[in-house]
Amino acid sequence: MAIQWFPGHMHLTKQVITERIKAIDVVIELLDARLPGSSANPMLAQLTASRPTLKVLNKQDMADPLRTAPWLAHYNSQPGTCAIALDSSDTAAAQRLITSCRALAPLRGGMVKPMRVLICGIPNVGKSTLINSLVRKRAAKAADEAGVTKAEQRISLADDFYLYDTPGMLWPRIIVAKSGYNLAASGAVGRNAFDDEEVALELLDYLKNPYADRLQARYKLADVAQVSAMTDDELLTEIGRKRGALQSGGRVNTQKAAELVINDFRTGQLGAITLETPEEFALWLAAGQKLDAERQVKKDAIELNRLIKFKKIPRPPREES
Ligand code: G4P
Repeated sequence: MAIQWFPGHMHLTKQVITERIKAIDVVIELLDARLPGSSANPMLAQLTASRPTLKVLNKQDMADPLRTAPWLAHYNSQPGTCAIALDSSDTAAAQRLITSCRALAPLRGGMVKPMRVLICGIPNVGKSTLINSLVRKRAAKAADEAGVTKAEQRISLADDFYLYDTPGMLWPRIIVAKSGYNLAASGAVGRNAFDDEEVALELLDYLKNPYADRLQARYKLADVAQVSAMTDDELLTEIGRKRGALQSGGRVNTQKAAELVINDFRTGQLGAITLETPEEFALWLAAGQKLDAERQVKKDAIELNRLIKFKKIPRPPREES
């Protein structure tokens, strides 16, 4: 696995959510609209499975609208789930969240049965920014670096509408390799957990098909067909050359070029881009799950042999042929 991180405060957050979920009516799961599938925390899905969920595709201003629509349709077709897209410039965000949550839990409301909503998301998904804008004051302190722990907070969005905040949380083991790269490209994973060049090459490998025109325009590359035909290494080197990421002797500094590509993606310099469609993500997930199951079978076999070797359990009888 190329992307690895130490989940740090994960256990504490898990505990907080497990306790809190008992008195929660709706869960808001904040997703990154540029990578909705990859930014969904599978551990969170397990912890909150019993509650209706509002999926909020945040940072929609940076995502490809032609892809946001199918993602919304995908989530809206799931039972007990509703989806909306937002960004920090949305002045009606609070009202849209309140309306969607009320639709998911119509029996809640009024002072006797106030709506209790838990808001969750991975680091850097824009949760603090959204909460700050919802309460129009600095109720949630924006974290400087992905993975900073914050205590749970309660925010009133209306007299009978409480929002409980949780710390941004990643999960310990990603089984979808592509998700690791997409999370790293988006800035959800701390810098020490990945190699810039590897992430940039994966990013270019994806972008050069649906978004070759963006690469061509941003880096003033030859024609679009040529961009798609280049290998990832060639593309990174060419971008480095065009942008003057050079080292002594005039050779391209690929580390610098990689940082440049990642930064351009993160800051929207490549335009509104979405790194996965629902169909693509479903395929990646199925492949990741298959690989994970095979890995588990191998691990179990090694463990069984170890136990037999050290006579902790008897050798199973051989089958007659
Ligand atoms: P978190 O609490 O979920 O960890 O995320 P946070 O709100 O700190 O947001 C992470 C980064 O994403 C911030 O940028 C923030 O400005 C940006 N952001 C949040 N919501 C949106 C949105 O809807 N659209 C866009 N384009 N960006 C958004 P930063 O560069 O890390 O910090 P800053 O200097 O901009 O504050």
